[in-house]
Amino acid sequence: MKKVGVAILGLGVVGGGTYKILTEHRELYKKAHGLDIEVESVLEIRKERALALGIEEGKIASNIAEICSNPEVDIVIEVMGGVEPAKTFVLAALNAGKSVVTSNKELFCKYNHELEKVAKKNNCGLFFEASCVGGVPVIRALLDNLQGNKITSMMGIINGTTNYILTKMSEANGSVSYEEVLKEAQALGYAELDPTADVEGYDASYKLSILSSLAFHTKIPFSKVHREGITSVSAEDIIYGKQLGFVLKLLAIGKNTDRGIEVRVHPTYVKSSHPLASVNDSYNAVYITGDAVEDVMLYGRGAGALPTGSAIVGDVIYCAKHNNYQYSTFNNTEDADPSTKFIDNFRSAYYLRLNVVDKAGVLAKLSAVFARYGISVAKMVQEAEKENGDVPLIFITHETKENSIKKAIADINASGDIAKLESVIRVVG
Ligand code: HSE
Repeated sequence: MKKVGVAILGLGVVGGGTYKILTEHRELYKKAHGLDIEVESVLEIRKERALALGIEEGKIASNIAEICSNPEVDIVIEVMGGVEPAKTFVLAALNAGKSVVTSNKELFCKYNHELEKVAKKNNCGLFFEASCVGGVPVIRALLDNLQGNKITSMMGIINGTTNYILTKMSEANGSVSYEEVLKEAQALGYAELDPTADVEGYDASYKLSILSSLAFHTKIPFSKVHREGITSVSAEDIIYGKQLGFVLKLLAIGKNTDRGIEVRVHPTYVKSSHPLASVNDSYNAVYITGDAVEDVMLYGRGAGALPTGSAIVGDVIYCAKHNNYQYSTFNNTEDADPSTKFIDNFRSAYYLRLNVVDKAGVLAKLSAVFARYGISVAKMVQEAEKENGDVPLIFITHETKENSIKKAIADINASGDIAKLESVIRVVG
């Protein structure tokens, strides 16, 4: 029986879940894998939290040096989150010859190049399945099972908090605002008290940077991800979208085309017939297209103590059973490889919602703006006049360039007598 000692840095929600899985399944891992995995040490400032989980006082370390010098510890699990002190601790563990399993997407996204260099130098494993999409095994799928493909596209709902908020707004049929649902989500523990990382799209962008680097075999730094959050989403757009057969999602999109790579996170209308449209509440899914496999969708819990713990323990077992560790399949530098082309002026279909004055010539003027920039309209809907005399007018365009839409919007905004632009949402599917 191979003995494997682990240390857990941080006993928050995920750390606690990981400890529970490791202790409850210890006999299972012995039987199934011939591995006796024991939690040898933990690092947690709130000692009472460790004691409440049933961890012996003697296993609670006072600092990272104690864990690094503990010969019983083979693998360090980092579940603290944030960049510091997690980065210092992970580097110390790697330099002490311990393999590391982390769930830390911000750390991994921003400093993978640095961590991987130290891991390689010390012949240690660096595992990060839990950093993206919680319990959904998308990283191993990209690293192993899908390697035979050229992956051309990836679309994902990879943030549970925003998916929960958008689902609740949709279920309420537009009768509740973003702010109201956010408050409710915070009260229920689905959203953080400071929700910025989730609602402004940072969390999804860290994950997309990691996933697209793996999928496209080139470094995609966070700075290259076009990021928009959901804070400006209105109840009206949820209603109008539904009427048009769309569901609004915060989508992370990565495309690898002959022209270059595009990576973006923004609110997106997804056709209700698309498999991603039925991913609701805090569930996550990633829809990957490869040239050989065609379409694959991985779906499940993207967060939570046990789902994320599941990914971490999977990495611990994999690490314990392999000696030849895998590293990046691309030049893992801080910045993008100079030969990688990025597309900022990407193509998409668009939904434009305007309030117009109901008088002759307005449509002609709008058509002239669209024609000026080569924008072709696929559908137009005129809604009933509001009490103030405004008429909501909705256009769905055919695929067009982002810059063309921006120019058209600037022209519409500049000519105040035509119409007031209320919202612009990209459309897929
Ligand atoms: N805050 C993330 C989410 C979970 O809402 O999906 C951890 O990545």
